[in-house]
Amino acid sequence: MESLRGQEQIWQLMFSFVDSMALKCAIELRIADIIHSHGKPITLSQIASGIRSNSNSSISPNIPYLSRIMRFLVRKNIFTEHQEDNDEVISLYGLSDSSRWLLRDFKSSLAPMVLMQTHPLSMAVWHFLEDYVRNSSNTFEKAHGCNIWEFSSANPEFNKIFNNAMASIVPIYMGAMLSSYKDGLGCIKGTVVDVGGGTGGSISELMKYYPNIKGINFDLPHVIATAPALDGVTHISGDIFESIPSADAVLMKGVLHCFSDEKCVKVLRNCRKAITDKKNGKIIILEIVLDPTSNQIFDETRMVYDLLIPLFSGGKERTELEWKRLLNEAGFTCIKITKIPIIPAIIEAFLV
Ligand SMILES: C[S@@+](CC[C@H](N)C(=O)[O-])C[C@H]1O[C@@H](n2cnc3c(N)ncnc32)[C@H](O)[C@@H]1O
Repeated sequence: MESLRGQEQIWQLMFSFVDSMALKCAIELRIADIIHSHGKPITLSQIASGIRSNSNSSISPNIPYLSRIMRFLVRKNIFTEHQEDNDEVISLYGLSDSSRWLLRDFKSSLAPMVLMQTHPLSMAVWHFLEDYVRNSSNTFEKAHGCNIWEFSSANPEFNKIFNNAMASIVPIYMGAMLSSYKDGLGCIKGTVVDVGGGTGGSISELMKYYPNIKGINFDLPHVIATAPALDGVTHISGDIFESIPSADAVLMKGVLHCFSDEKCVKVLRNCRKAITDKKNGKIIILEIVLDPTSNQIFDETRMVYDLLIPLFSGGKERTELEWKRLLNEAGFTCIKITKIPIIPAIIEAFLV
């Protein structure tokens, strides 16, 4: 039996990309949105007609295959199915706790993140995993000829997909941060700069909650060029390795894990220089704190990021000890880590 289970596990791992592809397909076909628009569980033919009208096509979807996709995703608990028996038995498909996170037009949607992670341009990088182990090669560069930031800058389609994916998790992360870390944010007076803030969603959320805060969103020129105008947010483009706009506090979400320790120390020192209020100033970092022995919620995903980040940007995820060592090296001795109910944790680094 043990040996059969071992065999089963290999089959499952071999085909686990099919889970990702089926999920991607459901998002592309907007199946969760179609079900949601009816406000109750619906039949396969209602899903099919929703797909046809979304695509403005007169061609009928492949219903037998759609039913297989639904059967597969019901088995994975992405959708629910129950049978109604009028004159004939008919299946009704509904949303589960998981598919609610796939609704495209909802504020907290993981759909753009799924589309970015499963995009062929992202998937291409994974094919260099073995090469990375053998040669420590720059895998993104091997797959696409340059690093991820240069590639995004030169490729508007990928830039949009990447920035949308980042923006999609802002409400999820900021929602958790704003409700679980009130004391840490409430005491900030003056200006906060979101370093590597993407298109500015995080600082904008922060300013809605704390209207006395002035917000700067700082990122590379090709990202700022696509950032929308946001009430009160000043967008500034530049390079975190050169200098960072002055502020009373720095926010940095998912940026340091993109870089090596050496590069992070450079960025952290620039943050230090940027903070005007040396007495009360602090850096608020939102990053994964890795604990490979833990089996709590999101730990599996944290371990996936541990493999993903080196491949995509040459950075790394860090344990508590590694964060403390890194921050110490950049001159920060007072560090506080707060776990909140999302994948990353809050790491505060105080100037004094
Ligand atoms: C993983 S994304 C995180 C985005 C955002 N903080 C969030 O949480 O959604 C990393 C961000 O760092 C920015 N970045 C990378 N290198 C940079 C540099 N040299 N100067 C400024 N920003 C940079 C990227 O453009 C990107 O927006």
